[in-house]
Amino acid sequence: MRTRHLLIVYHTQSGNTGRLAEAAWRGATDDEVTDVEVRMIRASDAGPDDLLWADALLLGTPENFGYMSGGMKDFLDRTFYPVEGKIQSLPYAIFISAGNDGTGAIRAIHRIANGYPFSEVQEPIVAKGPPTEEHLARCRELGMALAVGLEARIF
Ligand SMILES: Cc1cc2nc3c(=O)[nH]c(=O)nc-3n(C[C@H](O)[C@H](O)[C@H](O)COP(=O)(O)O)c2cc1C
Repeated sequence: MRTRHLLIVYHTQSGNTGRLAEAAWRGATDDEVTDVEVRMIRASDAGPDDLLWADALLLGTPENFGYMSGGMKDFLDRTFYPVEGKIQSLPYAIFISAGNDGTGAIRAIHRIANGYPFSEVQEPIVAKGPPTEEHLARCRELGMALAVGLEARIF
């Protein structure tokens, strides 16, 4: 059986979401996970080929103006038609960095994810304010949970 692939796509402006993404990366690449390849890419550098490569997806974005960031929206805008009909139901999860509760960003991603389609396999993580040790630990767990789930063929 081939190695499974986890894609982490994130956008960050002032670095907070980037720190969450790095924590997710650390969890996904933990020594306990042996048969999963992890690719972490900034949203501006990610494209349809990355989505077609992926067996599961982590999306990380700040909340900007009550929505996902423009960089994350641009990634979704650019990839939707090229992957349409080519992905079945990609397991995914979200992490958000926000000054407040992040619900606008989550709602926006949920709506778009239905169209791809992506299917959510973990609750979204919202890190309010600069990432704390607890936020980083939760993102690390999230990365590991997706990687372990892939390895165990749970999804
Ligand atoms: C242009 C702009 C708009 C923002 N809008 C929101 C918002 O609507 N809701 C919110 O909770 N935080 C908002 N924030 C705060 C960011 O979500 C927060 O600072 C986040 O940690 C930034 O993540 P980053 O460092 O990865 O860019 C906004 C920040 C910027 C720069």
